[in-house]
Amino acid sequence: MELISRMMDGSIPYDPEGRLEPVLSGPGAKQEDKIERLKEVSLFEACSQRQLRGVARIARVFDVAAGTLLTRAGEPGDEFFLIIDGTARAEVSVQKHVLLHPGEFFGEMSLLDGGPRSATVVADTPLRLLVISRRHFAVLLKDVPGLTETLLVTLSRRVRQAEDRAERLRG
Ligand code: CMP
Repeated sequence: MELISRMMDGSIPYDPEGRLEPVLSGPGAKQEDKIERLKEVSLFEACSQRQLRGVARIARVFDVAAGTLLTRAGEPGDEFFLIIDGTARAEVSVQKHVLLHPGEFFGEMSLLDGGPRSATVVADTPLRLLVISRRHFAVLLKDVPGLTETLLVTLSRRVRQAEDRAERLRG
């Protein structure tokens, strides 16, 4: 099971090796602080205050050290990640690494189709991440205006890139 999953479901309170430490989480976190952070994320710019409160209720914020493994290709995955600060690296294949920046997200594919992780994702720098678990993902899609469309556009772009790459490998 992915490390963040174990932290999200409470089976470990934090990474015993200290590589990953939750910053804000659960009911103990100050909702107002979380809402202020959400306002800085472009994905949430069309959200009303009520919608932001809804997102803040279901989201956890984690600080993650560079090098932390966030998803592992081929394994099941139960979280959606949005980058607040820092850069993540999606290792789509041995030759293809894609850098993901603040405002970008990953982990949506396993939540949408229930399949295993399509790529390994590692923190390229220290990261601040917003993490949403599978059981809250539907709430996120309902509450955030335009999120479904953004996911579709991103997925279309990824399919196109994968097809171009396959074509280049064949040709
Ligand atoms: P998921 O398959 O759940 O977990 C790995 C994630 O890596 C995947 O969701 C996407 O969010 C991301 N990912 C997969 N392929 C690419 C790609 N070509 N470019 C950017 N990100 C990708």
